[in-house]
Amino acid sequence: MQDLQPKPGDLSAIETASSDALASVQLERMQRTLLHAYENSPFYQAQFKANGIHPGDLKSLSDLAKFPFTTKQDLRDNYPFKMFAVDHKELRRIHASSGTTGKPTVVGYTQNDLDVWSEVVARSITAAGGRPGDMIHNAYGYGLFTGGLGIHTGAEKMGCVVVPVSGGMTERQVTLLTDFKPKIITVTPSYMLSVLDEFNARGIDPRDTSLAVGIFGAEPWTNAMRQEIEQAFDMHAVDIYGLSEVIGPGVSMECVETKDGLHIWEDHFYPEIINPETGEVLPDGEQGELVFTSLTKEAMPIIRYRTRDLTRLLPGTARTMRRMEKVTGRSDDMIILRGVNVFPTQIEEQLFKCADLSPHFQIELTRDDRLDVMTIHVESTLAGAASDRRQAAAKELSSHIKNVVGVSSIVNVTEPGNVERSLGKARRVVDNRPKD
Ligand code: DLL
Repeated sequence: MQDLQPKPGDLSAIETASSDALASVQLERMQRTLLHAYENSPFYQAQFKANGIHPGDLKSLSDLAKFPFTTKQDLRDNYPFKMFAVDHKELRRIHASSGTTGKPTVVGYTQNDLDVWSEVVARSITAAGGRPGDMIHNAYGYGLFTGGLGIHTGAEKMGCVVVPVSGGMTERQVTLLTDFKPKIITVTPSYMLSVLDEFNARGIDPRDTSLAVGIFGAEPWTNAMRQEIEQAFDMHAVDIYGLSEVIGPGVSMECVETKDGLHIWEDHFYPEIINPETGEVLPDGEQGELVFTSLTKEAMPIIRYRTRDLTRLLPGTARTMRRMEKVTGRSDDMIILRGVNVFPTQIEEQLFKCADLSPHFQIELTRDDRLDVMTIHVESTLAGAASDRRQAAAKELSSHIKNVVGVSSIVNVTEPGNVERSLGKARRVVDNRPKD
């Protein structure tokens, strides 16, 4: 794998500033953001008043805990534009979630917001080992989803050459990767596995591509998956995190030289970890729900947004700013099976131990009498494998899951290509239990 260590001049000053210098930037920006939200967003003014709190009450960063949370439901209730804190003339872009489970959540950006977003994406690409002049094959979806355009503008800002392929048409992805010879690919990790299948189907050795690094995110993925992709492509695989409500991709990023969790660009997005049940702020190092407050956003400042993503905060290593551990999963995706909490990432980890099974998987929940049943649909790596071999693979996976995760499961081993594929975020859990 290529050596992608940064040189001193590659980083912006704030990335290596002292913790004290960072904290004073954060405090000044937080005070400004709270005041902007209070004065210009009727939603926040009402929220603050209902909680008997005023922006002037924030004297230190820890005072943030006195302010109320914002949830996805708040964005839905204020659909489409009622969360915005600027005049419509000031807006330059709108993005929105797909809205498959209700009304989409809509977010807006001023020109300054777009500039900040490009800056944090450029920082993220640099942390991944990208440099001006590099070619980036951007297979995140373009459109209302923030992945495609977010990466695109950040990459252009830092002087990279962007190939805006978007997701889908997997054969064409492989053709362009082979012919254009990009150094970087940006894509969801689950779709990268489909790209890998296509390389293998075409008889092209993926280790021969020009790719030196993949920037993977938009969904949870494990270190086991990192190893698989790094091995298969002979390249670095690093994690990028973000969410539209906070800005999009580029809220935090793993550094290629350490690969030890994601540095949060804390000069723009202030993190907290809370106990999801009580809302209490937890100290760094403890696992809980990640909450973000924007520090510079104009169009839609967001105060204490509950992401539902579970992780913990760790001290900085390659950069001053704190890291978040790889996200275990979303609290919405947590399966409670007979009292045991199970995340799809835990199943993914076990799957990589089984040589006869490919990494594509989907979890189906059903109810048998009054008990919940978890079936894991996976694929054999071999087309037309003998049934005893498939049964052995199924048994191997279910016993790993039983031993490590602590739950019983049914493993259904199907032919290659039978598990649902997605062009972006994989749908890991299908809940077919009757609604009570
Ligand atoms: O997924 C933004 C993005 C695009 C991030 C491209 C990275 C790369 P949303 O569609 O709003 O935005 O979804 C946000 O996706 O709350 C997490 O649950 C999940 N997510 C995003 N990145 C990661 C990651 C984009 N690296 C939601 N690891 C978040 C785990 C992630 N989960």
